[in-house]
Amino acid sequence: MPAATVADLVPTSGVLFGCDYNPEQWDRETWREDMVLMREAGIDLVAINIFGWSTINPAPGVWDFAALDEMMALLHENGIRVNLGTGTASPPPWLSSTYPETLPMAPDGTRRYPGGRQAFCPSSPVFREHAAHLVETVAERYGAHPALALWHVSNEIGCHNALCYCDESAEAFRSWLQSRYGTIDALNVAWGTNFWSQRYTDWAQILPPRATLSLRNPAQLLDFSRFSSDAGLGLYRAEAEIIRRHSAAPVTTNFMVTAHIRTQDYWTWAGEMDVVANDHYLDRRLPDPAAELSFAADLTRGLAGGEPWLLMETSTSAVNWQPHNLAKAPGELVRNVASHIARGADGICFFQWRASAQGAEKFHSALLPHAGADSALWRQSVELGALLRRLAPVAGTRVTASAALLFSWEAWWALENEGRPSEALSYLEQVHAAHNALTAAGLTVEVVRPGAELHTRRVVVVPALHVLRATEAQAITDAARGGAQVLVTFATGTVDENDRVGLGGYPALLRETLGLRVEEFAPLRPQDTVALSNGSTGSVWSERITVTDAEVVASFTTGPAAGGAALTRKALGSGAAWYIATALAPADYAALIDRLATDAQAPRLRASSGELELVRREDGARRFLFAINHTDQDATVHTSGHDLATQEDVSGTVVVAAGTVRIIEESA
Ligand code: GAL
Repeated sequence: MPAATVADLVPTSGVLFGCDYNPEQWDRETWREDMVLMREAGIDLVAINIFGWSTINPAPGVWDFAALDEMMALLHENGIRVNLGTGTASPPPWLSSTYPETLPMAPDGTRRYPGGRQAFCPSSPVFREHAAHLVETVAERYGAHPALALWHVSNEIGCHNALCYCDESAEAFRSWLQSRYGTIDALNVAWGTNFWSQRYTDWAQILPPRATLSLRNPAQLLDFSRFSSDAGLGLYRAEAEIIRRHSAAPVTTNFMVTAHIRTQDYWTWAGEMDVVANDHYLDRRLPDPAAELSFAADLTRGLAGGEPWLLMETSTSAVNWQPHNLAKAPGELVRNVASHIARGADGICFFQWRASAQGAEKFHSALLPHAGADSALWRQSVELGALLRRLAPVAGTRVTASAALLFSWEAWWALENEGRPSEALSYLEQVHAAHNALTAAGLTVEVVRPGAELHTRRVVVVPALHVLRATEAQAITDAARGGAQVLVTFATGTVDENDRVGLGGYPALLRETLGLRVEEFAPLRPQDTVALSNGSTGSVWSERITVTDAEVVASFTTGPAAGGAALTRKALGSGAAWYIATALAPADYAALIDRLATDAQAPRLRASSGELELVRREDGARRFLFAINHTDQDATVHTSGHDLATQEDVSGTVVVAAGTVRIIEESA
């Protein structure tokens, strides 16, 4: 459970409005203009010193805090609170030229050079020592500063350098393995090293999974992913420990719960954050970027244990790092922001305040664009600030979810390891498909860690949870027995935490719960589909199943598993355990979830007409309905109350115009 609330950070504001600010890129005159404009927009919190290392510590032993002191004071005078970066995100050139061994190494043994950012090995003792000294110096100086609201450790830890294969990483990996396994024999058993003559007799023989000629050992790869996530968490812990000696302000770092970064197991990180904070950018490479945003926001709320969280970075419009950096369409920014808040964000911060004139991010959008304050984009920023202030009553309320979706970074790593049945099987695609089907059926979803207690959930979906432990399987079984409609999908529970297959038919730990055993996987070519006897269509996967004790709801009528079970249901306690052996087409998936939700009598939120993203936040006394229309057709929803977005009273069948948002404080 987070130790601080977002509301604690800046007590006077409602939904917090913040941004990254890089004053080292600008002159003093611009700073003064920035203060005026920040006040005009109603900025509550600014993140500074994120990339400040080379400014405040330009040479070994040389410190220059003049500019940072001045900026802290300026922000304080202007009533703006500071989210203070420790500055360790990117070491200055002097560090890597003096200590080239701190540079990260790729799997093929080549070093990565400075000149970008994050050019350091997370396990490097020399880097860690210099970072610790920097943090100590910054924390001592500003730990009690009146402008300080929050500590921002490093930045997106592991964004570029999570996986380092250098000798120092090898050393750290070995000690991590020693504490995990104790003896080399235990490691040999866990990694199955009798395969391909890989048996180790000395810890010194063990390396990170560097580039090989053939497939690498998948258990080694899985452990290396775990180790690398822990190494990043280790960086956070080291900094937080120093900060806490000098400051009572809450401490956090910005997570990257997003579709394209998967190197941190944030289930293991979240408990150490005083406030859970996430960075999220629309990924235009995905088929439905807004749906991915909803999933990421639900997962972030899951990491925060259901509490409100902070969106630490997002963009007002285009980013600069995708192949085609699309500007946001009219209304899209407000829809995105509303989705985050609907799903638990109590603060919205942007990267960044003022669009850079130089550097690799000069074409990234900002609250204040290159065009300056006489621009539509700036007026949009000011309007957004006003909207966030109107949403003050929402802050602190909670999202009530009736469905749970199990998500695991370990499963993501292991499922997509080398030597798998099909490259067409993407973990995240299966997770997104499940989330989309749940939301299409009107269910509000909490994303939870495998093993989490599920007794309040009416509907539970377990998509492609490749790695499964006995306790996690038990929680799934208990949920069904306790009255939930539980849907387990193909590729769940195939291996244990050491990537070892459970024998006797998949999924070993759930065979009894589901009343079946999968005898053979029969993946499909990417272009192929299969038909099911209930009219549904499947893709990606099929399998040959022997049903032992379940009702066959639908069979495969075409494809490699034709004639065999495709969808099964086993009544269990007061609930049921369902199994689906293929990737259903979206409408078929939603129809299946609809059936489960009906059986479970789960509360739902539905548009009266058209399509809407609907989420409710409440705190017992007050209820807020977020209705977001991502389509180009008007839609309606039945409710009544006061719309905080448009400031009008509404009642009955309320129209949510195409592309717009309503945030209705509902009358009792
Ligand atoms: C984040 C990062 C920011 C900025 C932003 C651009 O990954 O934390 O510093 O680079 O992306 O989208």
